[in-house]
Amino acid sequence: MSGESKIVQGDSITWSRGAGELGLSDSGPMNIAEICTDRNLRLGRGGRPALIHQGHAGDPRTYTFEDLKELSCGWAAFLAEAGIRPLDRVCLFLDRVPELYIGFLGILRLGAVVQPLFSAFGEEALFQRIDDSQASCVITQRRHLGKLRRIRERVPSLHTVVVIDHDPAGKPLRSGEVAFSMDDGRRKDFPVARTFGESPSVLHYTSGTTGKPKGALHVHGSVVAQYLTSKVVLDLREDDVYWCTADPGWVTGTSYGIIGPWSLGVTQFVLDAGFSSERWYAAMARHRVSVWYTAPTAIRMLMKDGAEATRGHDLSALRHMCSVGEPLNAEGVLWGRQAFGLDFHDTFWQTETGAMMITNRPGLPVKPGSMGRPFPAVTAAVVDPETGEELREPGQVGMIAIKPPWPSMMRTYWNNTATYYSKFLGGWYICGDRASVDEDGYFWFCGRDDDVINTGGHLVGPFEIESALLEHEAVAESAAIGKPDPVNMEVVKAFVALRPGWEPSDDVELSIMNFIRKKLSPLAMPQEIEFVDKLPKTRSGKIMRRLLKARETGEQIGDTSTLEDD
Ligand code: PRX
Repeated sequence: MSGESKIVQGDSITWSRGAGELGLSDSGPMNIAEICTDRNLRLGRGGRPALIHQGHAGDPRTYTFEDLKELSCGWAAFLAEAGIRPLDRVCLFLDRVPELYIGFLGILRLGAVVQPLFSAFGEEALFQRIDDSQASCVITQRRHLGKLRRIRERVPSLHTVVVIDHDPAGKPLRSGEVAFSMDDGRRKDFPVARTFGESPSVLHYTSGTTGKPKGALHVHGSVVAQYLTSKVVLDLREDDVYWCTADPGWVTGTSYGIIGPWSLGVTQFVLDAGFSSERWYAAMARHRVSVWYTAPTAIRMLMKDGAEATRGHDLSALRHMCSVGEPLNAEGVLWGRQAFGLDFHDTFWQTETGAMMITNRPGLPVKPGSMGRPFPAVTAAVVDPETGEELREPGQVGMIAIKPPWPSMMRTYWNNTATYYSKFLGGWYICGDRASVDEDGYFWFCGRDDDVINTGGHLVGPFEIESALLEHEAVAESAAIGKPDPVNMEVVKAFVALRPGWEPSDDVELSIMNFIRKKLSPLAMPQEIEFVDKLPKTRSGKIMRRLLKARETGEQIGDTSTLEDD
């Protein structure tokens, strides 16, 4: 096969087939919320469970597709009354409560743009994202209100803060804050905004190497890709109980934790409780989870407790398992076979691609350690980073590239069109990851091509961490890198040079760690801080993160000729 194009293109699985199955036409109106609610009702699925929600405590609650329709209509009506207009950005800053999933649909029904924010974000992470999008509304809960109040003055665009669990007997709300109880706001109907395939739908922020997080803007037409990949790769069928373990603060939790499964009328299970293998297996057994989409870090955490931990739980309903977010090593796949008698099917994609691009789908043999082959409707290759030429020799390492367009491709980065355009080369969208393709067309991940840190499947930008570190009174200079970690793939390690008058100590270290946790998020918090006298820099003053990382991993350091002190 050497020298030939290894591009794998599907035959019968096409985007137009997906659109046709959903009854959509290119020029007709299209709204994700309408597809996930009204369409399911039209198909007679109204009484079927849409969401089985299990919180930290108490009994699980079940919402049918009819509930989904009426509760999301209630949200749309309430937001319209609060002055939210189509195309306004509305943030969801919530734990995994039912309001997060159903409010998402309400915002889309109104024609506004949903901006999910991970509820563990600290003030600075929150500020950057709301400030950039100029959101007019944030929906939150009491426990996160303090963080919002502290940045409120800095974001004048934000005119409405909705609190979903306000206690009238507790502390009063302030001006610009309103209470809304989803259960009380139910409405039989609310007109669907006249949106089309190209109308903005979801704005997801993602971290890069430099600058602030960038908002990848998606459109309603993305549903075609999320629907078809959910059907073909997750293999979702009407009688499934499906569990996506990702938080909707990240793209997996919206594309495959809301839109994909509900566009197919499938029941979803949501667990809003911390991780323990015992809790996970017990929940899967109790709710008869049949399809499971998770991440390598979670798989490695389960592996720590051994395959024996599954014994005693009836997991006989489980028939399909998929993974995303980080490289799934062969060991994880082999362990999955031992523990569940099934293969984990790895999938590769990004916030920017909106849906799976490279996949292991049922029917194709899994090669443990490989991400699989391009989804049939997707054209993917590895290309030369300089020219964008496809690299056709099996085993050659190049940049993963996808041929545009596809329905769920981001349409731009909010306020940052220049960076959006910089992602294309030679007619390809360049993902920024390196891989090789073997003689059977299977992709093998090699690594990211930038300094972005992937911790437990979540991307964290080193620049964001370094900027925040500089605001700590003791820090003169800093660099953040991803340090290899056996469970989380990478954890953040910071190198810090202290200001005059400060000495390294456990107290300073702890204070810096906590500072970042509060300002950004627990994920961004350095797990380790190394105090240094100064940082290696290029002659032009750029910190050589790669050098620090190479030292950490014992790799060859490479060309250091541009170093300051060489
Ligand atoms: O580096 C790749 C890694 O996660 C990045 C995308 O992260 P994000 O936009 O947060 O979306 C994550 C969930 C879709 C990619 O550029 N990544 C994602 N999936 C895989 C992966 N790395 C290796 N194998 C995967 N299956």
